[in-house]
Amino acid sequence: MDGLDALKGKYLEGIAGAADEAALEDLRLAALGKKGEISLKMRELGGMDPVLRQSTGAALNVLKDEIDAALRAKKAALGDAALDERLRSEWLDVTLPGRPRRQGTIHPVSQVMAELTAIFADMGFAVAEGPQVESDWYNFDALNIPPEHPARQEHDTFFMNRAEGDNRPPHVLRTHTSPVQIRAMTEQGAPIRVIAPGRVYRMDMDQTHTPMFHQVEGLAIDRDISMANLKWVLEEFCRAFFEVPSVELRFRASHFPFTEPSAEVDIRCSWEGGQLKIGEGVGWLEILGSGMVHPKVLAAAGVDPTEWQGFAFGMGIDRIAMLKYGIPDLRAFFESDLRWLRHYGFAALDMPDLAGGLSR
Ligand code: DAH
Repeated sequence: MDGLDALKGKYLEGIAGAADEAALEDLRLAALGKKGEISLKMRELGGMDPVLRQSTGAALNVLKDEIDAALRAKKAALGDAALDERLRSEWLDVTLPGRPRRQGTIHPVSQVMAELTAIFADMGFAVAEGPQVESDWYNFDALNIPPEHPARQEHDTFFMNRAEGDNRPPHVLRTHTSPVQIRAMTEQGAPIRVIAPGRVYRMDMDQTHTPMFHQVEGLAIDRDISMANLKWVLEEFCRAFFEVPSVELRFRASHFPFTEPSAEVDIRCSWEGGQLKIGEGVGWLEILGSGMVHPKVLAAAGVDPTEWQGFAFGMGIDRIAMLKYGIPDLRAFFESDLRWLRHYGFAALDMPDLAGGLSR
């Protein structure tokens, strides 16, 4: 029995001091494995006399259970310690606020679209949409620009490829937002009041022109709408958009195939000290084309020109964004330079509305 006590002391001590699971496994094999010390002693039982065999066998079983229990307890303790260590080293404070530099900003074009939509919505205009790949009929014919009309050349149009053997006129990337006038009137009829902001395309590239740019179309048709209504709407828009108490607009006689009469509109501004100020000074800046919708355009959209009349206008969104926010080069709008976006961008989730102040 002395031998067993010594074995017990040796193993329990070894288990208590084991540094990791590998050391524990070595101890288990040495004691309880097939050729382990306890197992060998069990094998010797067969040659003992029955009385001694019974007492030694019972003692061996107790010892075996003790060692087994000690091994399990130590294994669990080592596992807990490893988990504690992992939790300590992988600690993460999920309550830390996000890093502000990672927040995106709203592009000035999106900001200005939201601003002008808010202003025109306040005046009762809904938003209408049309496709950017447009048929030649919507982009030109329906707007009173027949195939040989010189205005077609002036638009520097991008044409889509035609399938071989297809002799129909090719689709185009819309050169202006005016085709949305036709689509909106065809769908909704008259009376109608809509704006149509969106992308347009022309083959042109310099400091103030890019092959893709943005326009907003305006259209108001009813029984007695006149140029006077157009003037009021545009003045009201400019005052609200440029956030100045008053603006002065100049209507210059012009020509567009889809309006009669037609006017280009300039806004009074000053360039003193290299700084642009809207609403004062001796300078004039062109911001849009407009006029009374041509009877042929109404008819093309299924609206009876003997019963209905109204105005339309088309304004360059990038242009008024440059004016309002003092951005000198149009090309930078579309270069996706993060430094530019951080400088000129607007806070996300801060939607402009008239009650809260437009640009804040
Ligand atoms: N579509 C013209 C352009 O892109 C702008 C324009 C002029 C739109 C007069 C109109 C309008 O609705 O009445 O140059």
